[in-house]
Amino acid sequence: MTSRAGAGAQPVERPTTAWGHRNILDLDDFTPGEITSVLSTADTMREVLRRPVPKVPTLRGRTVVNLFLEPSTRTQSSFDRAAKALSADVLNLSASSTSVAKGESLIDTFRTLEALGADVVVLRHPQSGAPYLAAREVSAGVINGGDGWHAHPSQALVDIYTVQQHLGDVKGRRVVIVGDILHSRVARSNVWGFTALGATVVLCGPPTLLPIEVARAYEGRDVCVEEELDRAVEEADVVMALRLQRERQEQGLLTSVREYVRGYQVNDERLRRAKPEALLLHPGPVNQGIEVSAEASRGQRSLIEEQVRNGVAVRMALLYLLLRGEG
Ligand code: CP
Repeated sequence: MTSRAGAGAQPVERPTTAWGHRNILDLDDFTPGEITSVLSTADTMREVLRRPVPKVPTLRGRTVVNLFLEPSTRTQSSFDRAAKALSADVLNLSASSTSVAKGESLIDTFRTLEALGADVVVLRHPQSGAPYLAAREVSAGVINGGDGWHAHPSQALVDIYTVQQHLGDVKGRRVVIVGDILHSRVARSNVWGFTALGATVVLCGPPTLLPIEVARAYEGRDVCVEEELDRAVEEADVVMALRLQRERQEQGLLTSVREYVRGYQVNDERLRRAKPEALLLHPGPVNQGIEVSAEASRGQRSLIEEQVRNGVAVRMALLYLLLRGEG
């Protein structure tokens, strides 16, 4: 069947910036130019998504596999929409729908998917490092869709893109990331991405959820730690609240959720300490009324839904940049 986008659809213009990645595992090995290239390609993709027929034939004949071995709403569905908007074929697989449930190893699963024609596999996995293992063993491209506590590069690119849409250049901006830093792969990738572009990142949270080793990992980058949220948000350009990952909490990390809310919930009163044009982000999913108040999450500064919307354009950009010129 002929795609509605058909041969007449306008193709995507090729970005001119060099792109050296076969896989997208984290942002620690991305140059500022490569991040900028993703962001500008996402602009082009946003324009595609606004067309009457939001689809281009660019990746026709390519196969993208979403292998999600942990639950996901945003990442999986936006990679699915992104691949389809580029006319790729898409397979969506979960732990229960694959032979992983019968004990098949990750590498065997990847080799099987490759034999079935996968060009790119987007992998979400509960163990940190799993996408690196897969990328070493297979020639299909691997995109890390979130591994354990380690990294979530596509979400960080969505967050940076969303901020850039509102503030322009992120250079010199103060970005406060608050909450459960210990368990947050989103925070870790955002630190690499924002600091690569010249922003200052302030990590804030209770000491049990913000071990000093986390900040030490970014030696040479503009990262600091502030335990008090009221101080951290002073003069902030961006405040990013993180989900309290209750499923990963070990006993004793928190005295109580009520105590956490008192010290670390982002609410309107705290946002008033930030710059007047400061933005509120949350990568989702949100524990409503815990890490962010209902008023703040629905307020004018909140970009939470916009982050979700931008997810498709940014992930289209990543698929396009990985697969262009191959085949
Ligand atoms: N931000 C994020 O990773 O959300 P999902 O778990 O819904 O994909």
